Amino acid sequence: MDEIIIKGGRPLKGEVIVGGAKNAALPILAASILTGGTFTFHNVPKLKDIDSIKQLLASMGADVKSNGHTVCIDTANLNHFEAPYEHVRKMRASILVLGPLLSRMKKAKVSMPGGCAIGARPIDLHLNGLSLLGADIKLAHGYVEATAQKLSGNEIYFDIPTVTGTENLMMASAMAKGTTILRNAAREPEITALADVLNQMGADVQGAGSSVITIKGVKKLKPVTVSIIPDRIEAGTLMVAAALTNGDIKIKNCDPNHLRSIIHKLEKTGVDIKILKNTIRVKGNLPINSIDLKTMPYPGFPTDMQAQFMVLMSVANGFSVIDENIFENRFIHVSELCRMGADITISGSHAMIKGVAGLSGAPVMASDLRASASLILAGLVATGTTRVSRVYHLDRGYESLEKKLASLGAAIKRVSS
Ligand code: UD1
Repeated sequence: MDEIIIKGGRPLKGEVIVGGAKNAALPILAASILTGGTFTFHNVPKLKDIDSIKQLLASMGADVKSNGHTVCIDTANLNHFEAPYEHVRKMRASILVLGPLLSRMKKAKVSMPGGCAIGARPIDLHLNGLSLLGADIKLAHGYVEATAQKLSGNEIYFDIPTVTGTENLMMASAMAKGTTILRNAAREPEITALADVLNQMGADVQGAGSSVITIKGVKKLKPVTVSIIPDRIEAGTLMVAAALTNGDIKIKNCDPNHLRSIIHKLEKTGVDIKILKNTIRVKGNLPINSIDLKTMPYPGFPTDMQAQFMVLMSVANGFSVIDENIFENRFIHVSELCRMGADITISGSHAMIKGVAGLSGAPVMASDLRASASLILAGLVATGTTRVSRVYHLDRGYESLEKKLASLGAAIKRVSS
């Protein structure tokens, strides 16, 4: 198993390019199920989660070919309607095939994603929405079995804005009879990216990016060639890396509009940020000011950046409180950060962080995707050597993060143990 070894203390300098967004690519690749034909996707990041969705599509009969960051998927012969446990247990987002399978094959059998390290993560809102479109849903032997001879538009209110739930319902309703209205829909940029792709395929999806999305069902869709939007969480993680190390980096090929909440919070910590079209320059400006933050659905501060900001607050000047409002157990990085010298106390969904003068390198274990990124960030600023194990979590969602950081001057390498 691979480990990442970091010798901390070097300020990051230079330029780095952000890759395509994992959370945009996953639903967009799943949308290829909706109609037969050859799709071409550019700027697809090379990640374990992307491998998982490609394998899942191939297991359903799709012909999947990859060349660098381009993925071609021919879904003409897609003939299987099951997402087995082996796939879903590796990646919860496999649930994204449920809506499109139901639309195309009239039935779907998808393993129920269980809870995961960061929380219970139910899918009741996905299933409730699909039922309202007319699907008959049974839960048996750990699987969701859904059938629908015909899907019909309806009005669906989400109790909580769910990202993959909104995406599943957008895909299921694209060819349903009549109009579907999704209320309290998630507003993440990845939702808008999926809506744009569906519209290019011939769908009629209006309002994505707002909390009310209207989908007028169309009779048919066609395959498309599209490019995946930049990964705002990768960009945000690199921004924090620059701030932490008192560096000066230019992050290229990102979309600053998707990063407003992160930029706003970083500026409050005293970091100097300049935006030039699709490039963000981040210049550290020690000492780091302590700030409070609450994770919220977009456009609020993303839960996927909470662990990284906690590292920043660990070495900031003063106290900060971080409220995690999306996932109930997303503080699993805290105990590892404390082993590196951070002073963090958890009480329910609040983390109280007292900034310390410095962190010290230690062997630490990654426990989920963003937690693993936070440990690498901590290693960049810690004295001595940090060894991060279980980096397969990192590989699910960051393409060669260690190479990108090394190109900016970090002393970081991957070793196979
Ligand atoms: C997506 C992202 C993930 C991000 C999260 C929140 C993908 C592939 N993953 O996950 O990186 O951290 O959004 O921004 O895009 N909920 C229910 N019932 C449901 C669905 C969700 O109660 O049926 C709850 C969840 O437990 C959570 C909240 O709603 O508390 C938001 O979850 P959701 O937006 O669905 O997260 P994901 O789509 O799984």
